[in-house]
Amino acid sequence: MQPKGLICAGGEATRLGELTRVSNKHLLPVGSWPMIYYPLQLLQLAGIRDVLLVTGKGHAGQMIDLLGDGRLAPRGGGDPILEVDLTYKVQTEPGGIAQVVGMARDFAAGAPLVVVLGDNIFEFAQSAALGEWAEDGKLARIFVKDVEDPENFGVVLYSEGGAVTDIVEKAGVVDMRFDAPPSSHAVVGLYCYPPDVFDVITRLEPSSRGELEITDVNRHYAAEGRLEAREVEGWWEDAGKHWQHLADIGRRIDETGANK
Ligand code: DAU
Repeated sequence: MQPKGLICAGGEATRLGELTRVSNKHLLPVGSWPMIYYPLQLLQLAGIRDVLLVTGKGHAGQMIDLLGDGRLAPRGGGDPILEVDLTYKVQTEPGGIAQVVGMARDFAAGAPLVVVLGDNIFEFAQSAALGEWAEDGKLARIFVKDVEDPENFGVVLYSEGGAVTDIVEKAGVVDMRFDAPPSSHAVVGLYCYPPDVFDVITRLEPSSRGELEITDVNRHYAAEGRLEAREVEGWWEDAGKHWQHLADIGRRIDETGANK
């Protein structure tokens, strides 16, 4: 069955300070595009047509004004920027990324799901790895990247044989089993799930910060031996970390392009 796509674009974005008092983080400029175009384009390049976009209550109107039905022609003409079939849902409180994934149950209707965080931007669209996963779609797949600031992310632990044994979400802040991140291998905001992901989410308990954690979903698949980790091809950026970072990422995209 052809996978469907989900973009998580809710949350409060307090780390971006004054920039997100009124505007939605995902509508802020990164290079010449609003941030949200990049994860949508990534799904399109993976051959995914049906995409659910979940956003917060105050911003759904702006998001629909910008993206409409998912077919977006550039101003002044030219090839379409986006050509997907968009469906929208509203997350009324930021209850965590796994809560957003749970909201996609009816939309997915038994299909496997590719999830992209609305603030994650990639040099390469990871199309080959996504296509390879979709051939079967029965395992969960995460993507990982070595980072200099692992305290900001979920990080992966491996067995000697290279299997994922555990994932630690923001050590010492969310996951209290560790004071500091036990690895520098961060889980990025691109996840592939088989149709039973919704049953996994139904059984989750909120974390110490009161959210349903996507890391707990991934830990469940790791414990079952059903989690694959793939190295991200090219650079990867989480654009939600700091306002200064937005301009840096824009420059990076100018230099190398994105979603190649
Ligand atoms: O960027 C990768 C990281 O993303 C992973 O390494 C972490 O394991 C994962 O928990 C996540 O961490 P963040 O702290 O970056 O998550 P953040 O709260 O910034 O949310 C990421 C995106 O998900 C953001 O674009 C908004 C959306 N979101 C978030 C929450 C908490 C929602 O749509 N709803 C939510 O309730």
